[in-house]
Amino acid sequence: MTHTFPHNFLWGAATASYQIEGAWDADGKGESIWDRFSHTPGKIEDNSTGDVACDHYRRWREDVALMRRLGLKAYRFSTSWPRVLPCGRGRVEPRGLDFYDRLVDALCAANIEPFLTLYHWDLPQALQDEGGWTNRDVCHAFADYAALMVKRLGDRVRYWTTFNEPAVAAFDGNLTGEHAPGIQDPRVAYQVAHNLMVAHGLAVQAVRAARSDVDAGIVLNLWTSDPASDSPADLAAAELAWQRGEALFLDAVFKGYYPPAVYDLLGGAMPEIRSGDMALITQELDYVGVNFYSRNLVGAEGNVNPVPGAEYTEMGWEVCASALRRLLNRINRDYRLPPIYITENGAAFKDEVSADGKIHDPRRLDYLKDHFIQTRLAMQDGVDVRGYFVWSLLDNFEWGHGYSKRFGIVRVDYETQERAVKDSGEWYARVIAANAVEEGQP
Ligand code: FCB
Repeated sequence: MTHTFPHNFLWGAATASYQIEGAWDADGKGESIWDRFSHTPGKIEDNSTGDVACDHYRRWREDVALMRRLGLKAYRFSTSWPRVLPCGRGRVEPRGLDFYDRLVDALCAANIEPFLTLYHWDLPQALQDEGGWTNRDVCHAFADYAALMVKRLGDRVRYWTTFNEPAVAAFDGNLTGEHAPGIQDPRVAYQVAHNLMVAHGLAVQAVRAARSDVDAGIVLNLWTSDPASDSPADLAAAELAWQRGEALFLDAVFKGYYPPAVYDLLGGAMPEIRSGDMALITQELDYVGVNFYSRNLVGAEGNVNPVPGAEYTEMGWEVCASALRRLLNRINRDYRLPPIYITENGAAFKDEVSADGKIHDPRRLDYLKDHFIQTRLAMQDGVDVRGYFVWSLLDNFEWGHGYSKRFGIVRVDYETQERAVKDSGEWYARVIAANAVEEGQP
């Protein structure tokens, strides 16, 4: 069976600045919290850093050529705040701005729609030193940075995402401490979560004030919380997990309040919410990005993990494509949403280079295929999905896991920086060309 997509469906791939650029201190770039974190011994699984990563800062021409060869219609990337504003505010580094300017020009010349994210976790360290996202001044600095970028690139970049996955930035960075800045403090984490929302609202206003003809959105990571059984206790546990994880940000952005379940959880430890904040947060958006990887199977006695008989990726995430269709239908039912883009979806598997130099990665190919099909089915259910970004274009620095997890549809040999399109990448190129997915056959 063939699943054909609407003719203007935006097929793309995604990356993020710290994960691919390298050149961590080149051309006047300031230090980011991820530079500081990865340079701290013991923080990254394989003791690696993003100092060089995929050397995209120097190899961007080659990478755009690769995107063109795959036939990508769009490319989602992030700009590094400290590359353009080394101290987070004040002095602008022209060489940093020029880099993104040239990249955007090359994308436009290749007919690839640039889809820009302003914050994919690399906060300038200078701002962290002032308290980072717990400091409201940082929210205003972010809005100024957003305006600077829109003024420079907004004539060519239509899509402007404020934040990538505020949940991960707030909680992995400040609750579990697995991500930069490595803080483990619930009070800090929830204040950061709220202030990221405030910064989002301010940045949307700044983007629109800088140019009226661009689109503004946010990217959220959403996992479904599926009940382990139909028992009332499991159903309630699953719903609570959804409210405290996913609805926390969805409600704030699209309804202008935080779910009661979050207030119950925090009790007296609620972050400071100033009057007017919620109205600021709930700006009208032009799109919402959904990053989807897996689901949680939730029971009153805790999560079911591993799920018997299920397949898992190298991240330890269950493969469950049908959850994506359910997720899209749920958010479509619960919220009045603007058009949706799947802004990340993909899988880490152990790849092997075969004797012929090819990378046969059938599990990644199947993962993507099943998720494309579930998305198409959700669209037929009535959900307005406009595009799809595979995570990731390239194997890259997977945060706390370093280079040990490969998500790319293109392999990167970190010794030589050679790129090689995997089978999944070749297959994706055919999907894009046909604008359709064939069920069953590769
Ligand atoms: C998401 C991140 C992205 C990548 C994938 C695997 O949470 O946004 O940078 O690391 O997970």
